Amino acid sequence: MTDNYGRPLGPPPEYKVDRDDTLYHHHPWYNFKYWGKKGWLTFSAVILAIIIIIIVVAVVEAKANRYPDYSELSYSLAETYSGADFFDNFDYFTGYDPSSGFVHYVPEDEATSLNLTYASSSSAFLRVDTSVSNTSVPNASTGRFSVRVTSKKQYGLDNLFIFDVKHSPLGCGTWPALWLSDPSNWPTNGEIDIMEAVNVVSSTNNQMTLHTSSGCSMSVKRKETGKSLTTSCVNSTDDNAGCGVDSSTDKTTFGSTFNTNGGGVLAMELRSAGIRMWQFARDSVPVDVWTGPEPDTWGEATADFPNTDCDISSHFRNQSIIANIDLCGSWAGTQSVYGENCPGTCTDYVANYPDAFTDAYWEFGNFTVWSAANSTASSS
Ligand SMILES: *[C@@H]1O[C@H](CO)[C@@H](O)[C@H](O)[C@H]1NC(C)=O
Ligand SMILES: *[C@@H]1O[C@H](CO)[C@@H](O)[C@H](O)[C@H]1NC(C)=O
Ligand SMILES: *[C@@H]1O[C@H](CO)[C@@H](O)[C@H](O)[C@H]1NC(C)=O
Ligand SMILES: *[C@@H]1O[C@H](CO)[C@@H](O)[C@H](O)[C@H]1NC(C)=O
Ligand SMILES: *[C@@H]1O[C@H](CO)[C@@H](O)[C@H](O)[C@H]1NC(C)=O
Ligand SMILES: *[C@@H]1O[C@H](CO)[C@@H](O)[C@H](O)[C@H]1NC(C)=O
Ligand SMILES: *[C@@H]1O[C@H](CO)[C@@H](O)[C@H](O)[C@H]1NC(C)=O
Repeated sequence: MTDNYGRPLGPPPEYKVDRDDTLYHHHPWYNFKYWGKKGWLTFSAVILAIIIIIIVVAVVEAKANRYPDYSELSYSLAETYSGADFFDNFDYFTGYDPSSGFVHYVPEDEATSLNLTYASSSSAFLRVDTSVSNTSVPNASTGRFSVRVTSKKQYGLDNLFIFDVKHSPLGCGTWPALWLSDPSNWPTNGEIDIMEAVNVVSSTNNQMTLHTSSGCSMSVKRKETGKSLTTSCVNSTDDNAGCGVDSSTDKTTFGSTFNTNGGGVLAMELRSAGIRMWQFARDSVPVDVWTGPEPDTWGEATADFPNTDCDISSHFRNQSIIANIDLCGSWAGTQSVYGENCPGTCTDYVANYPDAFTDAYWEFGNFTVWSAANSTASSS
């Protein structure tokens, strides 16, 4: 059969096949001309979801990237702790040890007569007693003599502290620390640990830590070379471990190697933007720490505690400089910690082995405090 023009009637053999195909080729899902109401609703929902995801990602990223402005402050020398009268600027703590140590902190006259504190023109020493044995009177059956000194002066924001440390204490059972706090308002007024380690028998890493009352976290962006250990600074979390930073990976920041290398210099900057600490080995101490500190030139801090999720200005007030050597107590004396490196039990060791404490001493060069224009310092 043909049509009026003589063409064969009916579709070409391939037409039927084509017809089904066109339906899909000309109305594909992505061609909005053929979308119904349902299609447009789906489209709007997808766009909305994408926008929400973009906003959430941006907010989360912005939050994770928050970081304070640490523009350099201009510091001038406010205080020097040095020379033969080094310890005149400190009070000797004689109360019961708040950290439950196996220790008797002695008053100034006893510390002087036992030579547990001694200062010359170049160095200040603070040591654990090695004269008392288990056959002497008195003996050390209720704890060994040691020293804890607290600076008479207290400091607030916008201060930079430089500590020259020539020797760090070693020995099983020891818990030495160089730190700042307001002991009568703890943890409300905060605690800043510059150097701390326990049961050091050879070389180890220094730990830098903050302790606070509630509302202070370091789960934020930080710029530091050290390794964060725990991020809540609050005294009631992690058994009061604080937010600690392990200062190195090469065990040169506390103990034998640190001492053999002539010690080092620790710097701590306390300001509303945050608290930063640097530990410099003896052979790489920036010369400006002695003449006028310029932290901008020191490179990344060893430990960085920014104010992002911790209001530094309300958590850290009236800070005294404190140096002590505790024995046993709630950290060093915990058997699971003590037993890692040391024999028997902590209290037996401390009571019976006076000769084990000959290396249990701090030797300091000078401490200096540098203040920016707005610093808050108060005598107490
Ligand atoms: C006290 O200790 C210092 C530092 O170790 C030392 O130089 C001095 O000789 C000691 N004094 C006495 C009387 O033992
Ligand atoms: C240590 O001194 C106390 C009090 O003077 C005494 O009771 C105790 O027996 C002494 N311990 C040793 C091991 O001598
Ligand atoms: C933590 O500090 C609060 C005061 O801010 C105090 O009441 C509480 O006893 C402290 N907890 C520990 C474990 O020290
Ligand atoms: C006293 O100390 C010595 C080590 O200096 C130890 O061998 C001895 O067992 C101790 N005595 C007592 C009663 O603990
Ligand atoms: C502190 O000690 C260093 C190193 O010995 C010295 O260069 C500096 O002048 C001393 N600073 C003060 C204020 O005495
Ligand atoms: C010091 O305080 C003034 C007034 O509160 C403020 O404008 C200025 O920025 C502060 N300077 C520093 C270095 O913090
Ligand atoms: C800091 O110390 C000063 C002087 O001792 C005192 O007046 C003030 O109340 C203290 N501030 C805080 C927050 O404890």
